[in-house]
Amino acid sequence: VKHYSITLLPGDGIGPEVISVAKNALQLIGSLEAIEFSFKEMPVGGSALDLVGVPLPKETLSAAQESDAVLLGAIGGYKWDNNEKHLKPETGLLQLREGLKVFANLRPATVLPQLVDASTLKKEVAEGVDLMVVRELTGGIYFGKPRGFSTNENGEEIGYNTEVYAAYEIDRIARIAFETARKRRGKLCSVDKANVLEASMLWRRRVCEIATDYPDIELSHMYVDNAAMQLVRNPKQFDTIVTNNIFGDILSDEASMITGSIGMLPSASLGESGPGLFEPIHGSAPDIAGQDKANPLATVLSASMLLRYALGEEKAAKRIEDAVLDALNRGYRTGDIHSTGYTLVGCKEMGEEVLKSIDGKVHAA
Ligand code: NAD
Ligand code: IPM
Ligand code: MN
Repeated sequence: VKHYSITLLPGDGIGPEVISVAKNALQLIGSLEAIEFSFKEMPVGGSALDLVGVPLPKETLSAAQESDAVLLGAIGGYKWDNNEKHLKPETGLLQLREGLKVFANLRPATVLPQLVDASTLKKEVAEGVDLMVVRELTGGIYFGKPRGFSTNENGEEIGYNTEVYAAYEIDRIARIAFETARKRRGKLCSVDKANVLEASMLWRRRVCEIATDYPDIELSHMYVDNAAMQLVRNPKQFDTIVTNNIFGDILSDEASMITGSIGMLPSASLGESGPGLFEPIHGSAPDIAGQDKANPLATVLSASMLLRYALGEEKAAKRIEDAVLDALNRGYRTGDIHSTGYTLVGCKEMGEEVLKSIDGKVHAA
């Protein structure tokens, strides 16, 4: 029996609801595949603020660092929205990413045949889309200095941030992106704003430089405004996209909607070494929190990415993905992906159907 330790960070809003489903899925797949998980649940975000007064307690970071992988729900909520910067739930998440040094965030957006009609795009546009956003996660404007509040020469209050990338940060994310493209369809599109921003000019130069090591990969460049447009015009032109922290944040939310819902998109955040961080790309959805309405599949699929990328448990990872497809094939839909003819279920019930599918106790009708 293999043994792995997993840090669970439920967080806020729908976080605990979706993590509970993903934990059950991991536990069940473990029992079927002779894998033993020990789970350690730790506070992060708003719930940590309420509990101990900081958004990332040092016990939470060290537990995460000492485990084999970390699965996070989501953080944030109205209650803490007006907190000072260092006391925001979001600051805790950024500290966690920084603390785990997970600079490469993989966000796959795949249109499942079962969900083509859940997309707001026309069927012929959405059908068959299978792209991967490789988002730089520990640099750029999220972390750049100087940053802060001040006053300008007119005595008016200003807020400012700095978009900054060092060459090594671009090089290492570019390599991950080229490697990712190599395992996919061999196409990489680097998205930047090199017509305006120095950080993007360096980005493009470094990506071109790294490209010389990957002559088999078809590299293209696109400005981010055009990329946002092309993603809804003709998303099938994309295979792998590599971009900076903030553009990747925005474009991956946009890409999620091609697939039907942000409630479907998982992610893996990886570093050079050490435990990876796995989380759905969505937030804490305070508008539906506590109502058993959340789609847990993004988190279940994040657990599958955890099995694949952090533990190398490909078979278990595939079984979870297949179970998600099976539950969809059997007609179950949470509200965000529901339409007439399907069975509307809540978060818990969707979780139970996924468990049945993992178990193989049901078969598509
Ligand atoms: P959000 O992703 O939480 O929600 C956007 C919309 O999508 C909402 O209408 C929500 O109900 C819906 N939605 C999101 N996930 C869903 C799911 N699994 N199933 C069904 N519907 C879902 O984004 P927001 O409203 O801009 O942010 C809310 C809070 O979450 C903020 O505090 C924000 O900072 C935080 N946030 C956290 C993360 C994270 O933890 N990684 C990511 C994004 C936003
Ligand atoms: C995400 C979120 C975070 C980000 C926030 C909550 C800090 O939007 O994980 O996509 O911007 O990275
Ligand atoms: Mn985001």
